Amino acid sequence: MRVVIQENYEKMCLWAAHYIAGKIKASKKTPFVLGLPTGSSPIGVYRELARMNQAGELSFANVVTFNMDEYIGLPHEHDQSYWYFMHDNFFNHLVDMKPENINILNGMAEDPEKECARYEEKIASYGGIDLFMGGIGVDGHIAFNEPFTSLSSRTGVRTLTTDTRIVNSRFFGNDPEAVPSQAVSVGVGTVMDSKEVLILINGHNKARALAATVEGGVSQKWTCSALQMHNAAIIACDEAACGELTVDAYKYFLDIERKERL
Ligand code: GLP
Repeated sequence: MRVVIQENYEKMCLWAAHYIAGKIKASKKTPFVLGLPTGSSPIGVYRELARMNQAGELSFANVVTFNMDEYIGLPHEHDQSYWYFMHDNFFNHLVDMKPENINILNGMAEDPEKECARYEEKIASYGGIDLFMGGIGVDGHIAFNEPFTSLSSRTGVRTLTTDTRIVNSRFFGNDPEAVPSQAVSVGVGTVMDSKEVLILINGHNKARALAATVEGGVSQKWTCSALQMHNAAIIACDEAACGELTVDAYKYFLDIERKERL
């Protein structure tokens, strides 16, 4: 696993955006299949990717996207649906992204399990995901795969923990009860099948999760720790998130990735 430590959030996002842009540009394959997250972590990455796109430095014309997850019961137009988030923070700012190339799980599907099976099939129809960008929750959840979700799970319905509903209540008027209790989400196994995974981890509140991801054992208690078994996983993080790493690990990654430091 690679861990690229940047000084602060802005530099982490800049580094990640340019890494993704480099992969899209270098790809000989049409289309390039990109997995995407929601949350506050990727916002700076989306801003820089959109800037590059508007400046004519990066095209999304041959990019197909698959989002990680969506709340069950929120329609597209709800300002906390992940569909709304993605359009508001990213897709609406791109000049050449084709709407038909955007894939987001439908949280209003009559049969959510069928919707999840459709999603897996669609990913497979493109030959899998080339690069999955993600974030993690403070409890280490990847997409909506809460602690103790199987590390080989596939796209399916997930029940949110009370902790996650409390954390996400900041977007719902600070009312945990207003946060949907269920979501549809890609599985840990779905993320693990991607050719590459890039996870953003920033801020002091993610320090425990970063340590568990990098230095803990592989365990379903910290679903992000599955990434230790991926042969092309990168964590992009900021200094603030490194507070729980051992000094040895911190020094090792700073040394080995010194050329990546912005
Ligand atoms: C939500 C999403 C995750 C995301 C996590 C972290 O629970 N389902 O995909 O990674 O929040 O969000 P943030 O980046 O805002 O900390």
